[in-house]
Amino acid sequence: MRSSATPVSATDRESGVRIGVLTGGGDAPGLNAAIRAVARSALAAGDSVVGVRNGWAGLTGDGDFVEMGRPDVSGILQLGGTILGSSRVNPMKREGGTAECMGNLRSANLEALVAIGGDDTLSVAAWLAEQGAPVVGVPKTMDNDLSVTEYCIGFDSAVHIVTEALDRLHTTAASHHRVMVVEVMGRDTGWVAVLGGLAGGADMIIIPEFPTSLDEVVEHLDRRRQQGSDFSIIVIAEGVEMEGMSGAGERSSATDAFGHSQLSKRGVGERLATMLEDRTGHETRTTVLGYTQRGGSPTAYDRIWATRVGAAAHQLASGARWGMMPVVRCGSVDTAAIRDVVAEQRRVPADLYQLAQVFF
Ligand code: F6P
Repeated sequence: MRSSATPVSATDRESGVRIGVLTGGGDAPGLNAAIRAVARSALAAGDSVVGVRNGWAGLTGDGDFVEMGRPDVSGILQLGGTILGSSRVNPMKREGGTAECMGNLRSANLEALVAIGGDDTLSVAAWLAEQGAPVVGVPKTMDNDLSVTEYCIGFDSAVHIVTEALDRLHTTAASHHRVMVVEVMGRDTGWVAVLGGLAGGADMIIIPEFPTSLDEVVEHLDRRRQQGSDFSIIVIAEGVEMEGMSGAGERSSATDAFGHSQLSKRGVGERLATMLEDRTGHETRTTVLGYTQRGGSPTAYDRIWATRVGAAAHQLASGARWGMMPVVRCGSVDTAAIRDVVAEQRRVPADLYQLAQVFF
């Protein structure tokens, strides 16, 4: 990758459309597959590709751009993280943020920008498109909570990691007759917890959408013991607020540029484990899967869909469909307005949670 600290000048302009690509928010497996798909589709069409470094940070200040050719996206399909870097910089919170972004798009001669991200990154993309910027989006978040789309880059890999962790934790829980509390990511929604818990055979899954009280968890554990199960695996999403659990409503005072508190510092899993041990007398341990859920190689499913939505985003950019993004609907790639995708969070439906409860 040819790196340049200074914005690309007009003399660098090549034939075809000059397309920028950025990745914002938390990293997720499959981001590189999406970057590769955007770049390879663009290069095959005679367009040129510019990487914007570190999400919206690269479009603010002096701008941070890098010219990308085919060798730059070679060998990255299976890599975790993002070769472009990421950040949680929010231009909407900066005074003159629009002018800054527009100015940098102009100085880099970008005629299109593909923003790959979750609700925060895509909210900025929608806002910029509404100000007239040539922006399209791509759905990414291991939380899987964007509206309209059935798929977000990184979710399948995260579920896979949780499933494998639960398989491993089962052996310790069973051997030591313990309660194992497993904290997984999920700020406002419990997609990773429910699907990872279902696939990994969790004995209880606690998610933000369906409140559970501490008393109910204690009763459930006691019932399991009475029925002869001398160990239990409880999966809890990091954003859960639980009646009866002290301090569970507290959020860390550290917040990011989008106003989200850092849930990894909240320690909901450890709090639950401590209270359960006190209340039940059962030996209890906690495992926080944390950033392992966002790290490492993407699954085949993530690679394939990241490739499909990445290529589709290039198509949207070629057609000047600003403010739009590819989504997955009924198993096929479709198109939606970015604004609709970020309008609200997609929450775990009752029927899926009820299915998980059958195995509690
Ligand atoms: O990307 C979404 C997410 O994984 C949330 O589930 C989590 O709370 C958050 O990112 C934490 O990310 P970071 O600590 O990198 O800001």
